[in-house]
Amino acid sequence: MTVKPFVKWAGGKGQLLGELEKRLPSEILQEKTVRRYVEPFVGGGAFFFYLKNNYSIQESYLSDINKDLILIYKVIKKNCNELVAELSEIESFHLKKSEEKRKENFYKIRDRYNSQDINYQQPSSEWIKRTGYFIFLNKTCFNGLYRLNSKGEFNVPFGRYKNPRICDEQNLKQVQFSLKSTNLFHGDFTKSSKYILDNTFIYLDPPYRPLNNTSYFTNYSKNGFNDDSQKKLADFFKLMDKRGAKLMLSNSDPQNHNEQDRFFDELYEGFTVERVTAKRNINRDPSKRGFIKELIVRNYS
Ligand SMILES: C[S@@+](CC[C@H](N)C(=O)[O-])C[C@H]1O[C@@H](n2cnc3c(N)ncnc32)[C@H](O)[C@@H]1O
Repeated sequence: MTVKPFVKWAGGKGQLLGELEKRLPSEILQEKTVRRYVEPFVGGGAFFFYLKNNYSIQESYLSDINKDLILIYKVIKKNCNELVAELSEIESFHLKKSEEKRKENFYKIRDRYNSQDINYQQPSSEWIKRTGYFIFLNKTCFNGLYRLNSKGEFNVPFGRYKNPRICDEQNLKQVQFSLKSTNLFHGDFTKSSKYILDNTFIYLDPPYRPLNNTSYFTNYSKNGFNDDSQKKLADFFKLMDKRGAKLMLSNSDPQNHNEQDRFFDELYEGFTVERVTAKRNINRDPSKRGFIKELIVRNYS
């Protein structure tokens, strides 16, 4: 049984797994074991779940700045049965409706999601409801995107799907199983610093530096991630390198659009910077979906 991400996530690493795996530290490849794994921009967790299917991970720390996303991970870990019951109810209610009524249902749930007052500190039945809404919206919204407006509201419109799979019970149970010995927390990437030791492997997959001015899908949170954030991340990379940890970072390659752009080459000068080919699907314009270069940076060879 293999486990896969339970949400579609912009920038998900599904297309890059082989390239990332090839570049794992040699001891991990040989022993098929990751002693301590830290992923501070976990998103949908494509690489974490891939590693779970193929390696033994002894200890792991997954985090993201998106509070709701981490809440979903926690609910799957602790209350998977209740969540499956909630989702299967949502699914049967939704799928028996006509297209027009499904659209109405989508906007009703989106409104409920946006107006829900949630206490993120205190687990409650509201967490399960919110997780149900979140997964429903992810499976039925346009392109499976997650995007917030400046008020922090989820604003992706309805997407047309014939038969969206809202409740994938088998996979949710696999996800629950893979999260067993995992520590989950929400916050800025710097918060993971206290879990990083010299035996740690860190995978960093920050929001992409926009490929062009019309790229629109990088607002995972209301705060955004600009060039200053990329610089702050490079400082963090260097600090953790000094601590003796092994780091691998991926990002979009700005040279896809401007061959002169050496932003990341300069930021990570002295480390291994490679360019690999990946398939990029999330673009509003289908003609712009296709192969592009991605960057992989490592502090080991
Ligand atoms: C490119 S996505 C990661 C995708 C992930 N690798 C996957 O397979 O789905 C970047 C993630 O960084 C998160 N993020 C944005 N700013 C952050 C910050 N300052 N600290 C930690 N996470 C952040 C976003 O919420 C988003 O989930």
